[in-house]
Amino acid sequence: MPDDTNEAAGEPDSVVDAVFDAVAATAPAIRDALPGRRVESDDENPSGETVLAGDMYADELLGEALTAVDGVGAYVSEERPDATDAGEGYSVAVDPLDGSSNLRSNNAMGTVVGVYEGSLPATGHDLVAAGYTLLGPITTMVVADESGVREEVVTRAASGDVTRTVVDDDLTLPDEPTVYGFGGRVPDWTDAFREYAREVEDELKLRYGGSMVGDVNQVVTYGGVFAYPALTDAPDGKLRLSFEANPIAYVIERMGGASSDGTGSILDVDPDGLHDRVPLYVGNETLIDRLETALDE
Ligand code: AHG
Ligand code: MN
Ligand code: MN
Repeated sequence: MPDDTNEAAGEPDSVVDAVFDAVAATAPAIRDALPGRRVESDDENPSGETVLAGDMYADELLGEALTAVDGVGAYVSEERPDATDAGEGYSVAVDPLDGSSNLRSNNAMGTVVGVYEGSLPATGHDLVAAGYTLLGPITTMVVADESGVREEVVTRAASGDVTRTVVDDDLTLPDEPTVYGFGGRVPDWTDAFREYAREVEDELKLRYGGSMVGDVNQVVTYGGVFAYPALTDAPDGKLRLSFEANPIAYVIERMGGASSDGTGSILDVDPDGLHDRVPLYVGNETLIDRLETALDE
């Protein structure tokens, strides 16, 4: 398991640390498995999307690792209809491979994690920690909890030992926004969002790569706004609340940014089911305020 700095035994954060140890430990194995798993499986996930072999493998690996963590009581995944029981403790909601459509084009992807107190579905206010790995040129992991947000580099030695190295222990959103990334097709955007997008396009630089973790990490690094908006033919957007929108909203809000479903914080959204979709807007507070005003007109 990765070596880490947290020696406190029994403290709530020791379970969170063990969760992110497990996520870090699986990241190199997931990365290694991708070359042979770029094909589509015959399966569909609970959201009705075709599952890639890479999605299945990541889910198997993470499901096994996370249900084995002492203090994790349930595992919820994009690839599974229901929660997997693991005894008593936190519910961990995971998008095992976010942006898996980038597998064929060899672009960024990663794993999204939300650690919730109590059972799911739940609002984002039940999160005690959240984060994501990013399988880019290097493997990084962003971890947010009550103490703040940090960026770690995940490396694996020839011995197989995985190490988490904190490279920034106080990630905050840059004051000056620089980039934007908006999902969906322009013809499917609402008129109000299209008008907002036109303004933002005149101010910021486009950074959209088709994987939420990659695109959000652009905003985390350079400041700006990421959105997968409500669409005319999909008013709830595309992203799932439990294991995509909530964890990302928690990270960005912990960094001093803002999140919205178009009317208010993502963390306030009260879901009916584990796979509920929600429009997601995250980034610098001024840009999210403008977004909510634009959608309210
Ligand atoms: P996933 O691969 O877990 O299904 O997530 C894909 C999501 C998200 O990563 C990204 O923001 C969005 O799909 C991209 O959607 P488009 O292909 O419609 O741009
Ligand atoms: Mn995803
Ligand atoms: Mn996924």
